[in-house]
Amino acid sequence: MIERLDVVNFKAFASASVPLGRFTLLSGLNSAGKSTVLQALALLRQSHAAGLLDGGSGSGLLLNGELVELGTGRDVLHENHVDTGGEGPQITLSVTEKGTVSSWTALYGQESDILHLQKQATDESLSLFGPGFQYLKADRLAPSVTYPRSHEIAVRRGFLGCRGEHTVNFLRHRQDDRLTSSCLQHPDALSMSLLDQTDAWMREICPGVNLQAATIEGTDLVRLGYRIDVAGLPTALSHRPTNVGFGLSYVLPIVVACLSATPGSVILLENPEAHLHPRGQTVMATLAAAAVAAGAQLIVESHSDHVLNGLRLAVKHGKLDGSAVRLLYFQREHDGVNIINPVIGSDGMISEWPPGFFDEWENSLDQLLG
Ligand SMILES: Nc1ncnc2c1ncn2[C@@H]1O[C@H](COP(=O)(O)OP(=O)(O)OP(=O)(O)O)[C@@H](O)[C@H]1O
Ligand SMILES: [Mg+2]
Repeated sequence: MIERLDVVNFKAFASASVPLGRFTLLSGLNSAGKSTVLQALALLRQSHAAGLLDGGSGSGLLLNGELVELGTGRDVLHENHVDTGGEGPQITLSVTEKGTVSSWTALYGQESDILHLQKQATDESLSLFGPGFQYLKADRLAPSVTYPRSHEIAVRRGFLGCRGEHTVNFLRHRQDDRLTSSCLQHPDALSMSLLDQTDAWMREICPGVNLQAATIEGTDLVRLGYRIDVAGLPTALSHRPTNVGFGLSYVLPIVVACLSATPGSVILLENPEAHLHPRGQTVMATLAAAAVAAGAQLIVESHSDHVLNGLRLAVKHGKLDGSAVRLLYFQREHDGVNIINPVIGSDGMISEWPPGFFDEWENSLDQLLG
């Protein structure tokens, strides 16, 4: 498990130390630095996957790749960078696992899209670089009639794509795999297979929905169909994703990422609540908590009270230990970003509510009643 991320001179942060839990919820105002935390982790993973953290002379941080496209050195160096001496500005990213700090320091190059490493960790057996990694960004793939069929990405690497674009092919290929943990099991599912479980959780999030994934013969494409059953009416036809709204397409990758989580997998989710109705958001958060109970580490950026409440309910109902949860509230201040850590008790109650921390509902209610 990644216990901490430290960054120096990287994008929104001059310097920050971010403690992480098995379930970390990043919250706070827009542009406070939440996605920057996910991007720092993704940048390390992307550089490692490209073989650029191997300690050789060409080692570096690969700024533009499959996971993140950050631009050049000038885009990622913190505006008011702290000069750490040596040969000019440096960017340092460090992750702590099992009490050991692995650190990478890169030299700034204004127009470079690979920042060459000056100092780097030698131990690379980090969960961040292990199998089962997923990173789903806020702007996921809009509903589509067909989806790509990449054997390399979806089947061999088991990656859903940053926009969830490989989810349908992954699901088609792995549909009969059994879930690795009973924590993730939906009681109404027909079996423990990935497809039946995905179907049951999707129905819990959006009542009446049924999934159908199939290849299109003679092409490199996969098709997904949704049947929406309405109580009291005869069985409905299968509809194209483009004809059933945004919510289902947006949440499917999140559901599949959680259900296929294995012990040690690291899953980064940016605004998983996007396009979901409030009850669906709460259900989705309880599923995410179940993925953590199954042994994965989740780092989730969210603006949703319902996601927070789903997490609190998972703790209250004993599905997840409160000590596994880290709530990080990012506050922008004149001299940088301040990170506050409210704590969830075993009853689901939260230790402190700093101003701006999921308090808008109450603020509006006060005005309505006042
Ligand atoms: N090179 C840089 N130097 C200083 N600040 C930067 C740099 N690059 C980006 N930023 C700042 O980072 C912030 C954006 O951070 P980030 O995308 O992590 O925000 P966020 O908390 O995820 O926001 P949202 O809730 O809208 O998703 C902005 O305030 C932007 O000015
Ligand atoms: Mg963000």
